[in-house]
Amino acid sequence: NSFKRLIIVANRLPFTIKSDLSFIKSPGGLVSGLTTFLKKSKIKDYVWIGWPGSHLNKSTFKIIKEKAKRLKNHPVFIPAKQFDKFYNGFCNKVLWPLFHGFPSHVVYDESYWETYIEVNKLFCNEVAKYVTLDSIIWIHDYHLLLLPSMIRNLFPSATIGFFLHIPFPPPELFMQLPWRRELLEGLLGCDLIGFHIYEYTANFLRTLSRTLGIDHKTGLILYQDRLIKVETFPMGIDFELFYNACEKRKIKKLVKNIKNQLKGKKIIFSVDRLDYTKGIYNRLLAFERLLLKRPDFHEKVVLIMVVVPSREGVEHYQRMKKQLEEKISEINGKFGKIHWIPVLYYYRSLDFEELVAHYLATDVILVTPLKDGMNLIAKEFVASRKDKRGVIILSEFAGSAKELGEAFIVNPNSIDELTNAIEKAFEISEEEQKERISSMQERLKRYNIIKWGNDFLTTLESINEKKFKFS
Ligand code: UDP
Ligand code: G6P
Repeated sequence: NSFKRLIIVANRLPFTIKSDLSFIKSPGGLVSGLTTFLKKSKIKDYVWIGWPGSHLNKSTFKIIKEKAKRLKNHPVFIPAKQFDKFYNGFCNKVLWPLFHGFPSHVVYDESYWETYIEVNKLFCNEVAKYVTLDSIIWIHDYHLLLLPSMIRNLFPSATIGFFLHIPFPPPELFMQLPWRRELLEGLLGCDLIGFHIYEYTANFLRTLSRTLGIDHKTGLILYQDRLIKVETFPMGIDFELFYNACEKRKIKKLVKNIKNQLKGKKIIFSVDRLDYTKGIYNRLLAFERLLLKRPDFHEKVVLIMVVVPSREGVEHYQRMKKQLEEKISEINGKFGKIHWIPVLYYYRSLDFEELVAHYLATDVILVTPLKDGMNLIAKEFVASRKDKRGVIILSEFAGSAKELGEAFIVNPNSIDELTNAIEKAFEISEEEQKERISSMQERLKRYNIIKWGNDFLTTLESINEKKFKFS
C-alpha cells in the first residue's frame, strides 16, 4: 500500500466503555471484521474514530480519550440527547428497518434527520484533525452516510472509501425516504463504495439512476468531474483462527463440559443479537412444531438459544424480547420434564472461547435471518468445524448464503420448511456432512478477511490513481 495513514471511521469504536470505565469488545460483525483485519494486516499507522459506547461527562471523557489514544482509538463526544435521536432515532428507527425491508417499522421524524446531519458533522470535525495529504479515509456503515461529502468539501483531493455492512434496499424502498437525494449525494463524496453482495450493489446503482438520474458503466460513475467506483466485496473471517480453535485447551474443556452437561442429547444452537431481522421467533415456532410432530425427539434434543442484548432504547427491540421470552417459556412449559428443558436460553453475549465451544458442540446450527447484510456467525461456524461435522441451516436472505451454497438453504418465512430442514439435518450421513462442510471451508479459506480488506483498499488506491489521470 502506498498510503501512509489509514483513518477508519465507524459509529462504534472497537471497544465500549462500561460504567466502571473498563473497556470491553463492542458487539457486531463490523467490529469483529475490522478488528481482525487491522490485527492481521501489515498496516501500522492507523487511527479508528468512533463513539465510545456510553455517555460520559466531559471530564471522564478526557480521561478515556487519553487511555483510548494508546490503542489508536479516538472517541467522538456526542451529547446523550443528540445521540438518542441519532442512534435510536434516525439510524435504528429509519435506516435500519427500511434497508432490511421493514418499512412499517420506520418512524418518520424531521428531528431525527436534523440530528443525523449534526452528528455526521461532529464526526467530520473529528476526522478533519487526522487527515494528512497521504492518508486514506475508510468510512463504515449506515450511521455515516453523509460523512463522505462533508469530508470532500473540506478536503477536495482526499481519498475516501465507504463500505456498507447492511443490505442496500431496492429503489422502491429507498425512495420512500424524504431525504433520499441528500443521502445519496452524501455518499457520492466517496471514490469507492463497497457492498457485501452483488444484489446490494445492483440495488444501489438502480436507485442512483432513478433518484438522481446518474448512470454507470460497469460500476463506474462520473459525478461532478470525479470518478466513483461501486463494487462488491463479501466480508470474510479469520479462517485459520476459527479452524484451529478446536486445538485450544480451554475450548476443548468447554466443549466437553457442554456435552457432559447435556448427557448425549442432540444440540441445536442459535446465536444472534436480539433483532427482528434475525428471524429468532420463527426459529422457535419451527422448534415447537418439531416437538409436536416428532415425540420421538422429546428428551433427546435441546435448543441452546443465545440472544445478545442490542439497541434496548428502541421499542421494537423491547417488544421482541418480551415476545421471545414468552414463547420460550411456553415451549418449556408445554414440553419440559424434570430432566429436560427443551430451550436453554441465555440473554447475554459469549466470549470467543465460549462461542467457538458452542459451535463445536453443536449438531445443527440455525441461522435464519429474514434479511441480513452478511452474517458472520454462519461463516464462523463452518470454519470452526475442523472435524467436518455439523449441519448449518441457513436463510437464503443472509448475504453469506451466496458463499455457503452447501448449507441447507431455507426460506425462513416458511415454518414448515424450517421444521423439515431440522428433521433432515438429523438424518444426513457423516459423509455428507463432511462433503458439505469441506466445500464451504475451501471457499472461506480463500476469500478471508485479509483478502477482503486488501481488495477494498487496493481498489480504492487504483481509483485514486485514475482520478489524477482523469483530471
Ligand atoms: N459474537 C460474539 N459473541 C456472541 C455473539 C456474537 O462474539 O455471543 C460475534 C460473532 O463472533 C460475530 C459477530 O459477533 O463475529 C456478529 O456478527 P454478525 O455478522 O453475525 O451479526 P451482526 O451482529 O453484525 O448483525
Ligand atoms: C450491525 C451493523 C453494525 C453495528 C452492529 C451492532 O452489524 O452493521 O454497524 O455496529 O450491527 O449494532 P450496534 O447498534 O450495537 O452498534
